[in-house]
Amino acid sequence: MSSVDLGIRFCGYQLENPFLLAATPCTHSGDMIKRAFDAGWAGAVWKTLGGIEGVSKPGVSPCYASSSLGAHLESFENIDMGNEVPLDVSFRELSQVKKEYPHKMVVASIRGEMNRSKWEDLARRAEDAGVDALELMFSCPHDAPQAEWQESLGESNTRLITSWVRAAVSIPVIVKMNPNSQDVRAQGRQAKIGGADALSCANTVRCILGVNLETLVPVPSVAGRSCYGGYSGPAVKPIVLRMIADLGRDSEIGLPLSAAGGVASWREAVEYMLLGATTVQVGTAAMYYGFRIIDDLTSGLEGFLLDRGFARASEMIGVSLPYLCLQPALSREFPLKARVERSLCIGCLRCYVACRDGGYQAIQHDSERIPWIDQGRCRGCSLCVVVCPVGGAIRMTAAGKDGEETTVQG
Ligand SMILES: Cc1cc2nc3c(=O)[nH]c(=O)nc-3n(C[C@H](O)[C@H](O)[C@H](O)COP(=O)(O)O)c2cc1C
Ligand code: SF4
Ligand code: SF4
Repeated sequence: MSSVDLGIRFCGYQLENPFLLAATPCTHSGDMIKRAFDAGWAGAVWKTLGGIEGVSKPGVSPCYASSSLGAHLESFENIDMGNEVPLDVSFRELSQVKKEYPHKMVVASIRGEMNRSKWEDLARRAEDAGVDALELMFSCPHDAPQAEWQESLGESNTRLITSWVRAAVSIPVIVKMNPNSQDVRAQGRQAKIGGADALSCANTVRCILGVNLETLVPVPSVAGRSCYGGYSGPAVKPIVLRMIADLGRDSEIGLPLSAAGGVASWREAVEYMLLGATTVQVGTAAMYYGFRIIDDLTSGLEGFLLDRGFARASEMIGVSLPYLCLQPALSREFPLKARVERSLCIGCLRCYVACRDGGYQAIQHDSERIPWIDQGRCRGCSLCVVVCPVGGAIRMTAAGKDGEETTVQG
């Protein structure tokens, strides 16, 4: 048995680990969720229930586009819309899954546009089916026939919808944040005032992934036309990480957070928890690599906790938040300088070109193409380290108090 405790309490529910499947096609049916639970996921957010006025089913095809870095997914766009399984079937399956897997957390994502009775009806049906919590979805970037309600969904509507649902049911209500709105803290505060028990963050980022240069049609092309889509996968992590930190630092909010955005391995999950997330949702990576990535998530998290001396996963929530401050408050006391490690350098001179054209012209090189740094000109910006393809061949160093040089990590 492991000597660290991966268990997490979230919305009154005791989870065996912090990992939930996000609402995506991975969670559109009972059979899929059962397989995911058997694989080791602690919970799942059922793909959004509730149709949209004026949108016909089935959905369009194709509905995805992606970009990759080598064999690894970099970013993903979808123009997928909600759950195509009939509502009655979904609620029946939900109820069955909950009966068979009482120790797994089942969250129902619901959507009711700006219509109170729709929200109330979906919320009550989900509660009656036995779900452990609701996730309110009014944040999909390609939802609806460019929806008056969607596009204009201001913070006050976040409060209003949350309060409708809050009054209709007694189970916990999680509000999913919209990364396309200007201020996630304002959204979070309004959700809290409306009665939210937790926030999930975030839905996909409104995007156009690219344009096909042969056909001149943006991707994905559906019979020669396209639309704005939702951006997800590793590329969105820095944006969502910032949003989680914004929510985690806001003393007026103070709600548990469930992070979703580009988690493909335990590392991103740990980063989200260190910046304040209690649970972590995984969408695109589970679609891309399969449910089995839960093994990497749990074993990696366990290894990290052991390595860093945490007895419980819950102990690391928000631990990195106090290190954040505003840029003017950062120290100017210890300027860094670049140093080249000759034995590792392969002479590609990327650092030289970058410093010449994007830096401070501090790098020269010898006849063997090995760079050296003019310490007087070096501004310590670290561009050379960023572009160097060999780890450790160029480092940022600071003179310590005793004059000894120390390497500083980025
Ligand atoms: C194909 C696809 C379908 C999605 N469908 C939904 C949905 O029905 N409801 C919802 O709230 N979010 C939906 N999302 C957003 C995800 O739940 C998640 O918030 C987002 O993708 C970020 O996480 P990721 O980078 O791990 O995918 C969908 C995402 C993808 C990629
Ligand atoms: S980029 Fe790195 S490997 Fe290339 S020349 Fe500079 S220090 Fe050497
Ligand atoms: S740290 Fe910046 S200024 Fe200094 S050598 Fe590298 S790129 Fe040039």
